[in-house]
Amino acid sequence: MTDPAHYDGREQAYVKHSLLEKYLPQWAYRVGREWGKLVYVDAFAGPWQVASSEYLDSSFGVAVASLEHALEGLRRYWKINPSLQAVLLGTTASKRAELETYAAKHRTADVTIDTLQGEFAERVEAIDELIGADKKKAFRFVFLDPKGWAQIPMERMAPFLQSRSCEVLVTLMTRHIYRFLDQPDRADSYRNLFGRNGVLERLQECPKPLRSELAVLEYRDSLKILCGFKYVSCAVVFRPDREEVLYYLMFATNHPKGVEVFKDAEIKAAKIQDSVRIDAQSRKGGQPELPLDGDGQRTQVVNELRERFSRHARRDVIHTLLKNGDRPLPYSELFCVAMAYPLVTPEDLHSWVVTLPGVKLTLGGEKRRTPSPDENKGDYATATDAGALRRELDRS
Ligand SMILES: C[S@@+](CC[C@H](N)C(=O)[O-])C[C@H]1O[C@@H](n2cnc3c(N)ncnc32)[C@H](O)[C@@H]1O
Repeated sequence: MTDPAHYDGREQAYVKHSLLEKYLPQWAYRVGREWGKLVYVDAFAGPWQVASSEYLDSSFGVAVASLEHALEGLRRYWKINPSLQAVLLGTTASKRAELETYAAKHRTADVTIDTLQGEFAERVEAIDELIGADKKKAFRFVFLDPKGWAQIPMERMAPFLQSRSCEVLVTLMTRHIYRFLDQPDRADSYRNLFGRNGVLERLQECPKPLRSELAVLEYRDSLKILCGFKYVSCAVVFRPDREEVLYYLMFATNHPKGVEVFKDAEIKAAKIQDSVRIDAQSRKGGQPELPLDGDGQRTQVVNELRERFSRHARRDVIHTLLKNGDRPLPYSELFCVAMAYPLVTPEDLHSWVVTLPGVKLTLGGEKRRTPSPDENKGDYATATDAGALRRELDRS
């Protein structure tokens, strides 16, 4: 388990690793029952600022430990034995040597760990080759965790990620994106990051306080349009000591179940984040200086962002219902639309659907009261009064 003691001064990494630790075992249980091989690609493995000699506070250490544990569960309770391959990339010979030391300790008959040296954009084919002939039988989870944004050109990423059996988690450094937006010599790097024309101009035209959020929405579109993912969701990571967003973790998948499991992990990691930020503040100055809001757990900036993203999500829900006409819309689809936004919860969606005018919720199964994102449960939402919904949209 991730240990907060290893993360003094870099609590944001604890939040990120907690998210991986919550998501990956669920991913392994879900896809490991159908696929013979699970592949974890950590293309920015570092190692970076690790305090634990066993790399328990690195992304690959957390990921491999979580997946080893999940495989053990699959063997014991499901009597199935998928294999695991981890591919770890370090930029320099010494980083790769560190990764090799780690790998040597963790390789087993069922766990392959390959290490590579170089920059992600130049090693994409080499990573693909390592996954190799088994690609069709393998399901990949790719973690791209750069410190900046120039290292993940969309043109190189997209062909690597375009597959039904692939999910990705990408760190989007919105703080840097925001900072360099008006420097003319950076224009190409924005084009490389988003991979589409017009994004830079839209970001420049956007009012400054809303630019980071627009960057998230534009990146979401790039993951869908250029990498071919059906669903995108994301988590927000704040500076531990300030009221400021540090980065977003963008998650893309082709299955609603992926969104459901990611959202669950995101909510748990967001709670950890709230308490970690308050703790970090208390340690620094005795009393927390971050302005607490609402239930006394979230700070003001978290609550403000939650409100803005909730407004976006609710509007998208209304749009989706209207677009679907008067036919029943699977609740799982609506779930993916709303959960595209960070800090928005399944309870928020449920409350919107039952309070929106002109919407009927139908649950498959008489005894259930709460709609489920599971498409097999047969839950639907139907727009019964488009006029009332349109008026609601105008008001929101
Ligand atoms: C934010 S750290 C990631 C740390 C790691 N994912 C973790 O959470 O423990 C980014 C790492 O990527 C490495 N890096 C920088 N540029 C890279 C590139 N072009 N390709 C691959 N790795 C790179 C850096 O050396 C650094 O160790």
